[in-house]
Amino acid sequence: MSKIHAAITAVHGYVPDYVLTNQELETMVDTNDEWITSRTGIKERRILKGEGLATSDMAVPAVTQLLKKRGIGADEIDLIIFCTTTPDMIFPATANVLANKIGAKNAWGFDLQAACSGFLYGLTSGAQFIESGKHKKVLVVGGDKMSSIVNYKDRATCIIFGDGCGAVLLEPNDEGNGLIDSILKSDGAGGQYLNLKAGGSLKPASHATIDAGEHFAYQEGQAVFKFAVTNMADVAHEVMERNHLTGEDVAWLVPHQANKRIIDATANRTGISPEKVIINIERYGNTTNGTIPLCLWEWESKFKKGDNLILAAFGGGFTWGSVYLKWAY
Ligand SMILES: CC(C)(COP(=O)(O)OP(=O)(O)OC[C@H]1O[C@@H](n2cnc3c(N)ncnc32)[C@H](O)[C@@H]1OP(=O)(O)O)[C@@H](O)C(=O)NCCC(=O)NCCS
Repeated sequence: MSKIHAAITAVHGYVPDYVLTNQELETMVDTNDEWITSRTGIKERRILKGEGLATSDMAVPAVTQLLKKRGIGADEIDLIIFCTTTPDMIFPATANVLANKIGAKNAWGFDLQAACSGFLYGLTSGAQFIESGKHKKVLVVGGDKMSSIVNYKDRATCIIFGDGCGAVLLEPNDEGNGLIDSILKSDGAGGQYLNLKAGGSLKPASHATIDAGEHFAYQEGQAVFKFAVTNMADVAHEVMERNHLTGEDVAWLVPHQANKRIIDATANRTGISPEKVIINIERYGNTTNGTIPLCLWEWESKFKKGDNLILAAFGGGFTWGSVYLKWAY
């Protein structure tokens, strides 16, 4: 009997309507379009506006459309893994909130926090339940409302992040397609360079934490950049080497969208030519857990059955990793 792989059988995404351009940011902080474009590749990002709207509200349309495309009901989902750094609340899990909103009555679920690598951690975790035969339909959602933790007076962070969400369905595949391999890594010593200091058990919310701006994402950009630019490239190269793949064998590189320069470095290191590198950072910025599923969604019509895809990410933690999968449809 051939090995069961966990294959992506449907993908969909959602980005909010509001477009925050570099020009608008120029009116908010001391920055300019030329600087942002040349240093990051970002031109605009989406922002979820409106009272009472949270990360799960972007997941609902993404997942609803995904289920429609696949022609299945929400009650057929066995497990929801919601990869997010901006859960609706600390608890209950956003996976539970989403299950309730879409009517996934038979699913259990949990949130997964690995900052920008969350979606790859989630994909790999979800795949285990399919490969083991435990589950038939696992929904992996990656989404963030980064605008809820970004300080729009801090030019070091507000130019980078945006809001968005994507989701994939994992199902068993016995044709040799699906997730083939993954390498996931972390180094907690990097936590000091990219974090959100307050609101957890270490520093519960207080007037002092609010006054100190500690409920906003904090980033030492250069330290993160140096780490990311080598490690994301290295781990993608490592997964390719382990599977005897050259740049020629790879149909698409799907990198986390944090900085165009980091994406270019990964493409160079892996020998994957520029036309095979998926990039939408200019339109969405860094949507944290949303970047990779949003790329898959936007490029879905270009993928062919059996295509080799290399996914790669890095993020706060530090966390990083790469997934090798064969597209299944
Ligand atoms: C954040 C980042 C774009 C900054 O780019 P950088 O080239 O490292 O820029 P630096 O922080 O060294 O700053 C260079 C100069 O630009 C200035 N600057 C910083 N932000 C600016 C902005 N938004 N607009 C204009 N100037 C800015 C700095 O003050 C500095 O000026 P100085 O030389 O006069 O001191 C870059 O470090 C980066 O992308 N890091 C990784 C971030 C990331 O991927 N995070 C997500 C992790 S998942």
